[in-house]
Amino acid sequence: MYRVEDRHWWYQGMASITRLLIERWVQPDAPLKILDAGCGTGAAMTTYLAEYGEVTGVDLYPQAMEYSRRRKARLLARASVLDLPFVPASFDLVTSFDVLYERGVRSDATALREFARVLAPLGRVLLRLPAYDWLRGRHDERVHTRRRYTAKQLRTLLEQAGFDVEHVSYANTLLFPLAVLKRLGESLFPLKENASDLTLDTGMFNTLFRTILSSEAPLIAKFGLPFGLSVVAVGRKRS
Ligand SMILES: C[S@@+](CC[C@H](N)C(=O)[O-])C[C@H]1O[C@@H](n2cnc3c(N)ncnc32)[C@H](O)[C@@H]1O
Repeated sequence: MYRVEDRHWWYQGMASITRLLIERWVQPDAPLKILDAGCGTGAAMTTYLAEYGEVTGVDLYPQAMEYSRRRKARLLARASVLDLPFVPASFDLVTSFDVLYERGVRSDATALREFARVLAPLGRVLLRLPAYDWLRGRHDERVHTRRRYTAKQLRTLLEQAGFDVEHVSYANTLLFPLAVLKRLGESLFPLKENASDLTLDTGMFNTLFRTILSSEAPLIAKFGLPFGLSVVAVGRKRS
């Protein structure tokens, strides 16, 4: 991730989508206190999230801390999303991008209750997760996928954890047919065992795919898209 995420179309496209979701649904009119739960290598927290306020990153793994420090992330804690080291009502916004689906998160419901606990009343959570369990592929093995989600499942989980769901949408919709073909191809013609989608050299397609994915951002933020490879949601903590 650290090697590719500054230029890979998927990260850049998802960043455009996330920005618009924040601008439309969080509408920050003052700097926010943000927790990036499962911050990975610190890319989001040190780039676009930092434009909306003060960002604290949490991740379970030492390598994540190391890479985030290389990116000059200041506020970091090595901890699990299942047991966050913060007092209640510490943050205005919790973001968590592609984390709750991991085998390292024993219970997504517990993690969401932790997010609700550390949020101020009426604070918001912004989630992104991989969609549809039937789409599991080789990449899922490499990134330790426990489960993939439908919009309905994510909505229910958020509601049960104490959030009012303000917006749910699929994302990465236009490239969906291509991805489905690729996943089907993988099961028919297995390739290298340790390959992941991030190691794909998309070459000249990088710009094209980035443009396609970024073009979905206004539709996702305003109306929502009916299917896709990822699912995104915005929830507001009940007061
Ligand atoms: C696919 S990466 C996503 C990283 C980052 N959010 C991003 O969008 O690039 C998943 C991250 O979740 C972290 N993780 C897995 N289980 C965790 C847990 N129980 N608590 C905190 N972080 C966890 C992993 O270390 C990894 O950095």
